[in-house]
Amino acid sequence: MEQDDTNLQFDGNRNLRHLLSLKGLDASLLTELLDEAEGYLTPPGSLPVRSDSLAGRTIGNLFFEPSTRTRASFDLAGRRLGADVLNLDVNTSSRKKGESILDTLYTLEAMQVDIMVVRDASDGVPAYIARNVENHVSVLNAGESDISHPTQGLLDLLTIRQHSADFRNMAVAIVGDIQHSRVAMSASEALQIMGVGELRLISPPALAPDANRFPGARIIDNIAEGLKDADVVMALRIQRERIGNLDGVPGIDEYFANYGISHENMKVAKPDAIVMHPGPMNRGIEIEGTLADGPRSVITRQVTNGVAVRMAVLNRIGQTMNAR
Ligand code: CP
Repeated sequence: MEQDDTNLQFDGNRNLRHLLSLKGLDASLLTELLDEAEGYLTPPGSLPVRSDSLAGRTIGNLFFEPSTRTRASFDLAGRRLGADVLNLDVNTSSRKKGESILDTLYTLEAMQVDIMVVRDASDGVPAYIARNVENHVSVLNAGESDISHPTQGLLDLLTIRQHSADFRNMAVAIVGDIQHSRVAMSASEALQIMGVGELRLISPPALAPDANRFPGARIIDNIAEGLKDADVVMALRIQRERIGNLDGVPGIDEYFANYGISHENMKVAKPDAIVMHPGPMNRGIEIEGTLADGPRSVITRQVTNGVAVRMAVLNRIGQTMNAR
């Protein structure tokens, strides 16, 4: 994201207008969003929180890449806040017939869509849309190339905070295809805004990130070193759709043996360390199935938190709209 796009996220009164990246946000805003998200959580089996704070507003889900969790949770979050939600199906949308992004955008604006939730495989698309929408329209990034996935970063931060709010004395290990992961990028940004003690990025050399993209993180290729005394371990999927050349990328068995998170290699982490995964998950490749289903796993909690965090973000955007 360009530096100018950081400012693009706020209106003239420093209210959050678009959420394109966590870059440029501060710890107090992240804390407010997480605190609000906590208020949307209810015990399993009870009815979800509902409000009419977005009644009359229309949310357009524009997902030009596949999604289960993010799209469904934005849909539920919007409906639980009283909005109308329009889900555009990429396979049947007119972008398949050559329509430009801007023409899709103008079409939705003409239908009085107020909030565009955008996922796209190309760099810069959410910011491009944000620069071209009418003044009353907001844009939320729901996953951009390998660049940014800000609501995923917030839901991961909330899940970690539920384990321990002592970010400064925490070691977080993110394991897998860091080079192609927008999840790693946004989680790192969120954790560093909160002053995380140690951020370790563990991957095979062929999937290691450019260190300049993750200032302050330790880049490690040995999993035992990376997991030692970690408080939080996050496994990532290999993003095959973003890897042009698979040379040097280990095959499945070699990958699981050296970089898969397992009961065995978790023994060096802190005894109460949690295991996270953003999904979609490939059992037996980046994570052992029984570990993903076991007591250390907070993977389904991440999904629950995703709805709550998206409600908090949508509500904040709605407040900005109402303040105009
Ligand atoms: N974590 C995540 O973005 O999942 P989806 O691709 O299913 O939305």
